[in-house]
Amino acid sequence: MKICVIGGTGFVGTHLITRLVSQGHSVKIISRRPERHRHLRTLPTVKIVTIDFFGNKILERQVDTYDVVINLAGILNPSGNNTFEQVHEKVALRVAEAARAVGTPRLLHMCALNADENAASSYLRSKGRAKNKILAMEGLHVTTFSPSVIFGAGDGFFNLFARMLKIMPGFFPLTCASARFAPIYVGDVADAFINSIDRPETYGKNYNLCGPESFSLRELVKYTATQINSDCTIVPLNRFFSKPLAGLMGLIPGAPITLDNYHSMKVDSVCSDSANNESTAELGVQLHSLESIVPKYLAGKDFAGQMDSLRKKSNR
Ligand SMILES: NC(=O)c1ccc[n+]([C@@H]2O[C@H](COP(=O)([O-])OP(=O)(O)OC[C@H]3O[C@@H](n4cnc5c(N)ncnc54)[C@H](OP(=O)(O)O)[C@@H]3O)[C@@H](O)[C@H]2O)c1
Repeated sequence: MKICVIGGTGFVGTHLITRLVSQGHSVKIISRRPERHRHLRTLPTVKIVTIDFFGNKILERQVDTYDVVINLAGILNPSGNNTFEQVHEKVALRVAEAARAVGTPRLLHMCALNADENAASSYLRSKGRAKNKILAMEGLHVTTFSPSVIFGAGDGFFNLFARMLKIMPGFFPLTCASARFAPIYVGDVADAFINSIDRPETYGKNYNLCGPESFSLRELVKYTATQINSDCTIVPLNRFFSKPLAGLMGLIPGAPITLDNYHSMKVDSVCSDSANNESTAELGVQLHSLESIVPKYLAGKDFAGQMDSLRKKSNR
């Protein structure tokens, strides 16, 4: 199949595209900065192009003749013109409209768990508005996916906490320590996307995706500390202290946590077991536990090292 992926150069995209290529699909990635992603360009059957998304019929020409369009574009922290509204709504709707205009009706769209037009976080509100609009569009076979936090080699979650634990002076003040997550393996998310392509029963649906177990943020950071042999003491902060700390950390370059993340953690990022079992069964996904994956990539390797080994594997 010919598959066009927007937002395919990031963490999820790299894993998904590696699988698509290994299954024999041809992939075109639309990226704003193709020069930064040489690792993907060297994969057989992948090409990367850069375009003006909003130029007259330019995106239509790119998706024309493709069987499937996948949109993974997203940001956690806005910067400059790259706002939540721009990436999660304008780009997402533009992609959906272009796919529909050229008669490429199969669209897989990445959302996020708890995305809702009325959410407290701007990230979740923008994701929620886009999801609702895209699911309501006629003339498309859309499936949207709303995962909890995603883990795997190169992730921005366990790796971030591992990096922070390494530089903390013996104690780690943790915002929203009691917030709960059900981390899902990136390979399982990739399987959900790929398996849904040919399943008409998934058309017009959103799938919340969670891993097999849920944990508090404190438990996840403690688990990370154990994996990297850190004896840093985790100091859980209650909601009252969490907010100012998140606000302060949002000012640090590369913002490990922001006020908007704080707002998104007001609601637990978990699924009900029965709904998750139903979704994963419908998508043919076998969930992996944290314990079976995280130790393989976390201990002793930096983020860049993990992505390198993933790329080497995919080049074999
Ligand atoms: N990682 C998680 O735990 C998690 C959990 C739930 C949902 N999600 C969602 O899953 C998707 C992928 O996440 P990720 O972790 O792989 O993120 P990532 O590594 O930051 O990758 C994000 C991608 O978005 C693209 N992008 C950013 N701004 C864009 C813009 N203005 N126009 C077009 N493309 C743009 C980037 O492409 P270029 O720079 O090449 O243009 C990049 O490939 C996102 O939508 C995210 O919200 C992630």
